[in-house]
Amino acid sequence: MSPLGNLSAQTIELRQRAEAAFREAAAQSPGNLADLSPEVIGLLLHELRVHQIELEMQNEELRCAQLELDASRARYFELYDLAPVGYCSISESGLILHANLAAATLLGVTRGALVRRRFSRFILRDDQDSYYLRRKQLIGGGEPQSFELRMVTSDGTPFWSSVACSVAQNEGAPEIRIVLTDISARKSVEAKLEQTQSQLLQSEKMAAIGQLAAGVAHEINNPVGFVNSNVGTLGEYLTGLLQLVDAYRFAVKSSPPDDFALGKANRLADEFELDYVRGDAVALLAESKDGLERIKRIVNDLKDFAHIDAVVWESFDLHACLDRTLNVVWNELKYKVTLAKEYGELPAITGLPHQLSQVFMNLLINAAQAIPERGTITLRTGREADSVWVEVEDTGVGIAPENLSHIFEPFFTTKPVGLGTGLGMAVAYGIVKKHEGRIEVRSIVGQGSTFRVSLPICAAETAGQRGPLEDTDRVREAL
Ligand SMILES: Nc1ncnc2c1ncn2[C@@H]1O[C@H](COP(=O)(O)OP(=O)(O)O)[C@@H](O)[C@H]1O
Ligand SMILES: [Mg+2]
Repeated sequence: MSPLGNLSAQTIELRQRAEAAFREAAAQSPGNLADLSPEVIGLLLHELRVHQIELEMQNEELRCAQLELDASRARYFELYDLAPVGYCSISESGLILHANLAAATLLGVTRGALVRRRFSRFILRDDQDSYYLRRKQLIGGGEPQSFELRMVTSDGTPFWSSVACSVAQNEGAPEIRIVLTDISARKSVEAKLEQTQSQLLQSEKMAAIGQLAAGVAHEINNPVGFVNSNVGTLGEYLTGLLQLVDAYRFAVKSSPPDDFALGKANRLADEFELDYVRGDAVALLAESKDGLERIKRIVNDLKDFAHIDAVVWESFDLHACLDRTLNVVWNELKYKVTLAKEYGELPAITGLPHQLSQVFMNLLINAAQAIPERGTITLRTGREADSVWVEVEDTGVGIAPENLSHIFEPFFTTKPVGLGTGLGMAVAYGIVKKHEGRIEVRSIVGQGSTFRVSLPICAAETAGQRGPLEDTDRVREAL
């Protein structure tokens, strides 16, 4: 049996290479072992043994390192494959190069079948443009991109995915690394929340309308009362006038006129106080016309208010919107509030006037409710660069510092049952956010509060198209 026994071919080859190297080295510096003294030979042998042990130890370390490497590679593959998110690498031309098991499961194909397939085949047709645009930005600028896409599995089932991608270089060619997360569950919760939000909006509207109804009824009742009474009086005047006309017609019927009948008609005219009636009828008619105008205005403003759900973005005059809102809520305010208007110069702004009207109404009613006996509400407006602002300041009880951070939460109220729903500020916050605006509050307990709504002059319409819920993060957080 050869001295190399049953060693592996690799070890034998290594040994042969070492022998050859040794022979070469020995040829260059020939030395004769026989010339060495036994002490030197002993020392050499010792050196060689120590060296051998050193090598064996190094060998062992290498083996352990190799084992660790294998284990960590296995761990890496396990993590890569079993990660709860899908990973794919995509070539510059859009072909899938690698994918983990989660990606294969998400897309409904075996991993083997994924490789060399076109990634875009798993993107819903409507969302493909947005994917290509992002890919272009990624490859062009190198900036990682995160976005949401509607994708489809291999059997055509659509699902929502969050996509995070970055670009890396692999052998000189760009390679796109994509992380996919199924967010369908989140999207469906969001849809449900959206529904809840519109129900909230509706119930707040109903509560507000309920609160206003009594006041508005009174406001309408008053002119209806006097117009009614005026019409009654005018009716009596008309009857009298018709009697007079008849009396005069009778008197002038014969020719020459019947003096007796004429005298009777004149007496009737005196009794009827014709001169007074003439003046009074004109006054009554003017007053009634005024009353009818008032009713018409209230009804129009209410109609306006009823359109609160309209989502037509338009350019409108904020001051007119504030004045209309004031008309609707005035009845709630007038007994205890002195109103100070400090309107600045404002350009027309873009937005949803009916919804903003609800914001101002909620602010004005809260301000009035915060005033115990009598106080002032100052309605101020102004412009700052690309935005406009509206301030509603009251001299009411103020807001305790510990409550300040809660007032925009739905159902947060410090008012007794029946008076407060706790929805007004949550809804206002949502509407202002939808306009990409801000709502801020300053308050000193015992002195009053100031709410400031800032709105961009040209709110992006797309902000509104996101739907009512997306914007009311605070509402969502609080729920
Ligand atoms: N102008 C204000 N002055 C004092 N407190 C206010 C004012 N506006 C809002 N708040 C506080 O914020 C809470 C929430 O307001 P809101 O959402 O409109 O609900 P509600 O008016 O139904 O209580 C109120 O209960 C009140 O404590
Ligand atoms: Mg309120």
